[in-house]
Parts: sequence; C-alpha cells; structure tokens
Amino acid sequence: MRVVSLFSGAGGLDLGFKMAGHEIVWADDLYEDAVETYRNNIGNHIVCRDIAEIKTEDIPECDIIIGGFPCQGFSVANMNRYVGDERNELYKQLLRVVGEKKPKFFMAENVKGIKNLDKGKIFEMILKDFAGIGYKVKHEVMNAADYGVPQTRQRVIIIGVREDVDFDYIFPVPTHDKEGRYDRNRWVSVGEAMSAIPNPDEPNDLPNHVYSKYKLQFNGYLGHRPLDPGKPAPTVTARGDNKGGVVILPHPNGQRRMSCREVAAVQSFPLDYEFAGNNSSVYRQIGNAVPPLLGFAIADVFNSYKGEMK
Ligand SMILES: C[S@@+](CC[C@H](N)C(=O)[O-])C[C@H]1O[C@@H](n2cnc3c(N)ncnc32)[C@H](O)[C@@H]1O
Repeated sequence: MRVVSLFSGAGGLDLGFKMAGHEIVWADDLYEDAVETYRNNIGNHIVCRDIAEIKTEDIPECDIIIGGFPCQGFSVANMNRYVGDERNELYKQLLRVVGEKKPKFFMAENVKGIKNLDKGKIFEMILKDFAGIGYKVKHEVMNAADYGVPQTRQRVIIIGVREDVDFDYIFPVPTHDKEGRYDRNRWVSVGEAMSAIPNPDEPNDLPNHVYSKYKLQFNGYLGHRPLDPGKPAPTVTARGDNKGGVVILPHPNGQRRMSCREVAAVQSFPLDYEFAGNNSSVYRQIGNAVPPLLGFAIADVFNSYKGEMK
C-alpha cells in the first residue's frame, strides 16, 4: 500500500508499516527532533509542519492514512467543552484529511482511556464521525505484549475501510501469550530484552545508550516501582511526573534508570535506530511511539487485501 502518515513522531508506527512491506509516501509532524529522527531512519518524505497548515491537495494520493492523534483536548466533564479546545482540532485534522483524500483505509491509534472519556460519548462521536464520511469502522484494544513487544502496552486501534471497498479487516491473532498457551510464544520479558544490551557504563558503540541520573526511589508511584525481569515491562510513557520530567522506567537490575537505548528496546525499536535531540527529547519520542512490532502486526493484515492498489 501507499501510506500517508500523520502525527508520525519518531516513526515507530511507520517502521511497522515498512516492515510489513508498505511504502510510506508522505509523513508529517511538527516536533523538530522527532522529524530529524524520522528522516535519519525512515526517510526524507516527512514534512515538519503543523498539520492544520497543510492543504489536502498537497498530500499525495495513497491507499491508507495512518496516525495517532493526541487526545488531551477532549474534556471528560462536559461534551460542549471539547468543541472549543484547540488540541482536539488534531482529531478534526485527521477527520478532514481522511474525508478529503478518501483513501481505501485509515488507521488511528490512541490510548485505551479515550474509550471512557465522557462516559464513552467522545469515542462514540469519533466512530460516528468516521462512519459519517463513508467508512466502515472497527476498533480493538490491543496489548503490545501479545505481538512480541516486551511491554504490556495497551492501545485502542481504530480501522476504517471505505464503504465501497470489499475488505473485512480482521485484527491480527496474537503471536504471544502470557503463559505461552494456544501454541503461542510466551510473552517476551524485559529481562530477555535487556540481555542483548551491554552495560552503558562500559565502552560500547550503541547509539543513545545514556541514562537519566534521576534518583531511584521505590515508593510505588509511576516510574518508582521495581520491575520484574521475568515479565514484560509496564507501559513506557512520554508523560511527566509531578516534577515535570518524563517518567523513565527503572532498569530491572534495580540499580539505575533505563538508558534511552534500553527504553527503545522495550518499545521494540531495533538497536541501531538512532534518535535525535537531548535525552529528555529522546525519552519523550520513544514514549510517544507505537511499538514497531505492534505496528507490523496491524499493517501485515492489509497484505491479505487482494483488490487493486494505487
Ligand atoms: C503519539 S505521537 C505519535 C507517535 C508516532 N505514531 C510513532 O509511532 O512514533 C503524536 C505526535 O503528534 C505530533 N503533533 C502534535 N500536534 C501536531 C500538529 N498540530 N501537527 C503535526 N503534528 C503534531 C506530536 O509532535 C507527536 O509527535
């Protein structure tokens, strides 16, 4: 498929689509460091601009539009409040571009919590809006650990198939299982993921293998809980704690925080995927990403579509 990618960030989702054999023809994000990361690893087809400033006719023809729109602008308190919030314009931007380009498919990713905002009314509205522009819409909460990512990250995936396109998107069957049941592999643990990575305090040539010196203190709060090396890691986040920095998981050895490289490995980025920017920016880009292996599982399903592509 020819893919257009919005809110592309450092390119985690796009890498998954590339791994599945699709061609990304155009991408956009306004975060300069993420765009540089994207250019260095995925390709030069990315534009660094606010999506609101981009005219649909400047976006090339494609078979699918993909993207995770930030959802902070939706109010949980009052349905009317989200209408005026500029951040929710980002969702409107995705709707605008899909509605005007009318690709065969679209795919949107978001946090699981979006389903509960305003007692589910906002999610209902999103599904209705896409149905209203001519798409059959399906959604599923997917756990990245079920697809070989060493992390129990849960995200809601929305898939739209244009009404006239004869294709039933079936969400991918998990390849991994918590207990290794149903002939599936056992979830990949964070200990296994870390075993391939040298100690950052010893000479090595891995990119971004530097870690935050922010003090480890196991007090039960986000980012301050010990990690069980025998299980997948909890969700890697780009959120800050109450002191403003990005929350960085401790290393399962309990001695320090994970390096950017190690957090990237927990997100299933390849070891040579190099991120641009200072450490906070890199941790943030990684926390924002869709794990490439999850992106691959979602993208690979489209290879069973036998109809014509552009
Ligand atoms: C959740 S991240 C996407 C991560 C990406 N899907 C990945 O897998 O790496 C959302 C992205 O939206 C971008 N963004 C926010 N507002 C934007 C705007 N107005 N125009 C373009 N990009 C925007 C942010 O910079 C951020 O990189």
